[in-house]
Amino acid sequence: MREFWDERYSREDYVYGENPNAFFAQQIEKIVPGRILLPAEGEGRNAVYAATLGWQVDAFDISKAGRHKADKLAAANGVSIDYRISTLQQAAYDKHSFNALALIFAHFPLQVRMEYFPRLLQTLQPGATIILECFSKDQLLFSSKNPRAGGPKDKDLLYSKEEIKQLFADVEVMHLVETEVDLAEGDFHVGRSSVIQFVGKLP
Ligand SMILES: C[S@@+](CC[C@H](N)C(=O)[O-])C[C@H]1O[C@@H](n2cnc3c(N)ncnc32)[C@H](O)[C@@H]1O
Repeated sequence: MREFWDERYSREDYVYGENPNAFFAQQIEKIVPGRILLPAEGEGRNAVYAATLGWQVDAFDISKAGRHKADKLAAANGVSIDYRISTLQQAAYDKHSFNALALIFAHFPLQVRMEYFPRLLQTLQPGATIILECFSKDQLLFSSKNPRAGGPKDKDLLYSKEEIKQLFADVEVMHLVETEVDLAEGDFHVGRSSVIQFVGKLP
């Protein structure tokens, strides 16, 4: 898995682009900056954008090539981020540290999501915001017609709306939709796609 992502990020350009994910940008711009955690943050496009808005940014990912490019993007934008190399399973942050958590195309096996997302929630302060965009199980229909649409080919890695409700059962749902969007993110998220978008607020 690590080799796959290091290989994907080994090219010069940013495979999902240098601009933030559109849903993430739209949501994060509404919140007063504090400290944010971005798991599975790849080449850092969302982390760097948050830092430019004044957020204190922590991110992690399994890919060293991803971190290298994230650090480069941060430097190019005149900001700094704390980007650790870690799996979701090993990530260790203090409880009640963050005002926001952003999971953008953060795809893990269902059993891993069920076991480790509750730990991510423990790192949040009361009132914290969760922003999530991910591919839904229907993305398999889109990516089979257009491989450039992207997303995991294994259904277990894809999300359902019901599951999001379960994962975030103790969180106030501000926004939850399964919808079709036209992605234009670098070379690997291009075209009509089925996504789930979620915003939640901790009590
Ligand atoms: C589709 S990319 C999304 C990157 C970034 N969030 C973005 O939107 O540009 C998925 C990322 O998940 C990371 N990843 C996969 N399994 C992981 C795990 N168990 N723990 C941490 N990161 C993981 C990969 O290295 C990859 O960077």
